Amino acid sequence: MTASETGTHDRLALQGGTPVISPPHRFVWPRVSDGDRAAVNALMDAGELSYYGREGVLEELEDLWSARLGGRRTLGLASGTAALHSAFASLGAGPGDEVLAPTNTFLATVMPLVQLGATPVLCDAEPDTGNIDPAAVAAAVTPRTVGIVVTHLWGHPCDMDPILQVARRHGLWVVEDCSHAHGASYHGREVGTLGDAAAFSFQAAKIVYAGQGGLLASGDTETHERACLLGHFRVRAEQDVTSELSRYTSTGFGLNYRMHPFAAALALSSSRALEERVATRQKLLGRLADGLAGIDGILTPVTRPGCDRGAYYGFKPRLTGPWLAAGARTVADALAREGLDVHPPGSRPLHLLSLFADGEVPLHRSGPPVRLPAHRPGDFPVAEELHRTSLSLPTFTFPDEAELVDRYCEAFEKVARHLPELTGSGGGTGRADGTGGTSGAAT
Ligand SMILES: Cc1ncc(COP(=O)(O)O)c(C=O)c1O
Repeated sequence: MTASETGTHDRLALQGGTPVISPPHRFVWPRVSDGDRAAVNALMDAGELSYYGREGVLEELEDLWSARLGGRRTLGLASGTAALHSAFASLGAGPGDEVLAPTNTFLATVMPLVQLGATPVLCDAEPDTGNIDPAAVAAAVTPRTVGIVVTHLWGHPCDMDPILQVARRHGLWVVEDCSHAHGASYHGREVGTLGDAAAFSFQAAKIVYAGQGGLLASGDTETHERACLLGHFRVRAEQDVTSELSRYTSTGFGLNYRMHPFAAALALSSSRALEERVATRQKLLGRLADGLAGIDGILTPVTRPGCDRGAYYGFKPRLTGPWLAAGARTVADALAREGLDVHPPGSRPLHLLSLFADGEVPLHRSGPPVRLPAHRPGDFPVAEELHRTSLSLPTFTFPDEAELVDRYCEAFEKVARHLPELTGSGGGTGRADGTGGTSGAAT
């Protein structure tokens, strides 16, 4: 035992010892770059505040993503949620239709389905990646199923081959929610090119950030044209819609999902930095995983052979053994007192949220509520277990954070030495309903 291990340095900060990191670390994302600022200022100076067509930085952004995604038609939109809504509406999801979806995702993956009157049918997760379980997908198909939506959770690609097989066998469409996985790949194929359509969020927490913004990549012309009509009319619709659907370009199909030019400029600037940021993030999270891997009872995130996590949107080690006996909340508190920005995951599995527990949504002031399958804790045990036993750590992305990563590992080692003192301090093993989680974006 070293001198520091016997002195106040080794006493937990929770018990009056010296924190490993002081002042406490607060993960800041994004770091707005000079390039981001210059891109938005240039639009301000030019008075470019709205686009009617495919033009300017929006066109550059769409071209960049189209080139990444094997030439797919792309459409910059107001948000990732708008991209998902556009995909579902265009591929066809409405009253009476069922769409298979992960319970382990952020709510926006399925909420547009509820808005369309379709039924999201939730499926459990795979225990290692947390992604939708292909076996659960196969088992949930009914004559009413029209499609499947998957989320490449925390950047790890879903096991797409068996999912696409189920889709082919039953004539279903597949939407990829790529909001966590910009630049990720599955056996050499980039996510966003695997299904019939793909949605990306460029919300501020994402590695490609617009502030608010999103992008739809369509696998066929009709899906692109319909999505274009849903959120645009006149100029943009006239440019993109050339089939018999062109008779609707003067009205579109009713919504305004246009992307703000400032958002497109930020998304373009951060898209250009994607490769570099992915490389540094993967290196730093690899360093963090290596540092934590030697600690008994901590399971670091897996990356399956043939998969690349790309943006690696979340780093969620799992607690077992003595860590779990102490409880995720207690462990998170102890680490936070050591100066770490660590917390239990914010997003609960969807089936534990009121909307999916109640089985009905009072969507309209009058008329009957929209019916959904009603769920209760225990319905999807793998997703619940993952939520109950995970911690959320920062996704370090900049070279100047390497030292900080080592301090994080040091703090975990320190808390590991004190776990017996924490056990029985009130944390228990946590609750499946995720008590203590925050209610914001997927974290
Ligand atoms: C998995 C997933 N899908 C969709 C979205 C929604 O994206 P947006 O906030 O751009 O509407 C998010 C945002 O956090 C997300 O994490």
